[in-house]
Amino acid sequence: MNNEQAQQPVTETQLRESLIEQLRELDAIRTEAVEKAIRTVPRHLFAPEATLSQAYAAEEAVITKKDENGIAVSSVSAARIQAFMLEQAEIQPGMRVLEIGSGGVNAAYIAELVGEEGEVTTIDIDPDVVERAERLLANAGYERVNAVLADGEEGEPKHAPYDRIIVTVGAWDIPRAWTDQLAEGGRIVVPLRTRGLTRSIAFEREGDRFVSQNYELCGFVPMQGAGENRVRLVLLHGEDVGLRLDDTQQVDAERLRTALSEPRVEAWSGVTIGGFESWDQLDLWLATVLPEFVLLTAKPAARDQGIVTTASPMGTATLVDGGSFAYRALRPLDDGRTRFEFGAMGHGPAAKEVADRLVEQIRIWDRDHRADQARFEVYPAGTPDDRLPAGRVVDKRHTRVTISWP
Ligand SMILES: C[S@@+](CC[C@H](N)C(=O)[O-])C[C@H]1O[C@@H](n2cnc3c(N)ncnc32)[C@H](O)[C@@H]1O
Repeated sequence: MNNEQAQQPVTETQLRESLIEQLRELDAIRTEAVEKAIRTVPRHLFAPEATLSQAYAAEEAVITKKDENGIAVSSVSAARIQAFMLEQAEIQPGMRVLEIGSGGVNAAYIAELVGEEGEVTTIDIDPDVVERAERLLANAGYERVNAVLADGEEGEPKHAPYDRIIVTVGAWDIPRAWTDQLAEGGRIVVPLRTRGLTRSIAFEREGDRFVSQNYELCGFVPMQGAGENRVRLVLLHGEDVGLRLDDTQQVDAERLRTALSEPRVEAWSGVTIGGFESWDQLDLWLATVLPEFVLLTAKPAARDQGIVTTASPMGTATLVDGGSFAYRALRPLDDGRTRFEFGAMGHGPAAKEVADRLVEQIRIWDRDHRADQARFEVYPAGTPDDRLPAGRVVDKRHTRVTISWP
């Protein structure tokens, strides 16, 4: 590129085309319909506080509101996540769609997908967000979208039934209202957190249960209101190392603190992974099979001081057993760091045994399930155990969620 070309301003249309190209490469756009919606909607009009290149970045969310502690409570989600969730939803012209968690741009994409014959309703618990979404949607020519102030826990009965419900805020459960407001044969796409791990899951209804069709790794701001349910953090070393607990999990923090202060025991699996491969499927396997599965979080300082060997912001898969625990570890196999081996770091009186148990499950995943997808099913609370598939059962307030593998 010569200097003259480099100085030419990049137009919104060029940025949109470049975004589409990236989303195709990332496999986030898979159909002509979603591509057309993303090409049609002027995305930058929904993020006026961002620069054009931020608004059209594939992987970046634009934070639009923070709470008093500076934590993000509302954002325009990253285009990659919006695109794959729209693909998961398989929206057809003429459908009625509910979006839970507003921003504007995603509702505009949905409006393009359903066309003039369809109907889009977007709800948010925050009046500022609803006012903003309504204003930006009208400004971009999408005044036909209904923007409503409501807690997602209750859905929005006025415009029900919906053919699709797309939840764009981190959820821990599937409240009754979503089931009641979903049309026969409908589909829910929801970033559902189970055992600390969040996946955007596309569910279809089969009688009184929901069955997953596919899922993708994702991250979202957590749900507020009546359905709020946060992960709990148990600190093990000042504020630098902790365990994230979900659902009804409990641990003996005092004994685990002592365990961490003692030397660790290493175990290695012989199972390897490439530098660009993701291991979210392994973590889902471990969350399914390990009786006490939690996530270890650590600040880089704790890793640099050698207290732990990992400082993943997502949290590291960990098996807890009484006063002992072991977390998943990785070591490079070459200087270029192109290939890594999975292992485990054990602490506590049963350090070796828990590390060996974790490594054994890593080997089983590699041998029997590396190419598999898990299956999530959601049953109403109170469903007897003998109706549930074999696998992990996680009890929520409204539902019983199961994770099973072929
Ligand atoms: C990631 S943003 C939504 C992004 C948006 N769909 C877009 O177009 O990019 C999540 C939103 O969920 C909202 N939210 C949180 N809890 C909620 C609840 N219980 N019901 C409805 N909205 C909620 C937040 O206020 C926030 O605006």
